[in-house]
Amino acid sequence: MSDQKFYGEDQLKIIFTREQIEEKINELGKNISEDYADKDLIMVGVLRGSTYFLVDLTRKMQIPFAIDFISISHYSEQTDSTGVVRITKDLDLSVSGKHVLIVEDIVDTGLSLGYLLRNIKTRNPAGLKVCTLLNVEARRIVDVPVDYKGFDIPNIFVVGYGLDYNENYRNLQFIAEFNRPQ
Ligand code: PRP
Repeated sequence: MSDQKFYGEDQLKIIFTREQIEEKINELGKNISEDYADKDLIMVGVLRGSTYFLVDLTRKMQIPFAIDFISISHYSEQTDSTGVVRITKDLDLSVSGKHVLIVEDIVDTGLSLGYLLRNIKTRNPAGLKVCTLLNVEARRIVDVPVDYKGFDIPNIFVVGYGLDYNENYRNLQFIAEFNRPQ
């Protein structure tokens, strides 16, 4: 498979193939299943980017657990977010006394995750951890814990496997660096 794809003017350079993602998810599913074998677990997907990752990851799990979703939106649409976020769809399940694992597609500045961690902590979970497919340490503004991660990436714009550019490209089975000629 060529690592360059073109969609009209958009250039996508594949950085993780479907096979590489699958292999990493197998590993994460195994580790999380072992770590939570005797715990009451709720896996929380953060809409919408994490949906493909959550589905594939949970299919690799070998223990019983619950799934829930939360959605947040940023007040500011600016790229350089102020970090002010609000919940637009809350959890349906109570997490009190349960072990919560937040599942993200990407942790970038850490502002979204920082907010989510603070918010969910107030609901008295027995444990609160984070799993992200992609981690961009170079963009971090807030220091957030990442307990399980797929890949570290540099400060590049990526699409595919849940990640979008103007809501497009989430459905791609690979992850690619996105470029549009100016
Ligand atoms: C993305 C991603 C994380 C967040 C990470 O969501 O899914 O939730 O940004 O960025 P941060 O670390 O800088 O806060 P986005 O707001 O793009 O919404 P989406 O999941 O619907 O694409």
